[in-house]
Amino acid sequence: MNAPESYWLEGDVEASYTVDLLDALTEVGGAESAIELGCNAGRNLHHVWRAYPQAKLTGIDINEEALAYAREHAEGANEWELRHGDLTDPHLLDHVPDGSVDVIYSVAVLVHLPPGEHKAKLLETCRRKARKAVVLVEPHTDGEMVWNRVDDRTMSPFCIEDYRPYLPGNLTVSQTRKGDDSYYDVLIWRPDA
Ligand SMILES: C[S@@+](CC[C@H](N)C(=O)[O-])C[C@H]1O[C@@H](n2cnc3c(N)ncnc32)[C@H](O)[C@@H]1O
Repeated sequence: MNAPESYWLEGDVEASYTVDLLDALTEVGGAESAIELGCNAGRNLHHVWRAYPQAKLTGIDINEEALAYAREHAEGANEWELRHGDLTDPHLLDHVPDGSVDVIYSVAVLVHLPPGEHKAKLLETCRRKARKAVVLVEPHTDGEMVWNRVDDRTMSPFCIEDYRPYLPGNLTVSQTRKGDDSYYDVLIWRPDA
């Protein structure tokens, strides 16, 4: 598992995925509320908070140490809700009313989840809860094996095309981007008008 502070060292606002995340939020008309799935030490939340200081922000992660690091070090964290939770838990977002949060997003997280129905369930839930968009900034794996840093297991191949069935309807997929050390895609799902 990477140390939480390493995410801050990497957490430059000029990092391409950060720019792409903020661009995606602009594209959907901004966010007065957002939930980050797999927020780790809060670097993305920090940049979203800088761009939308009035927004109601929530970060969820399975890593307690990372959440503690965010609470202690991330500027703005005292204004966010940081929740411990497992994205494979089908009841994770039960407390969030449908259509009540502008944007639900993830950055390099879903790729680490084990394969299975829970991924479909999570994205189906996100679609119900999100008023404006579900935004995924996720590695372009081309189906290669991915290492799960949470429990040190190697995950089955999962490539970006696998998300499509879970995000039916109004989905835009960026051209694959080149980050510092890997490729990634930006997916923006919006409810039908
Ligand atoms: C590669 S890190 C990305 C962190 C953050 N999104 C960022 O860009 O700085 C993956 C994150 O997903 C979290 N994660 C992995 N599996 C999870 C699960 N089942 N439930 C909640 N969080 C999970 C990890 O704890 C880790 O913080």
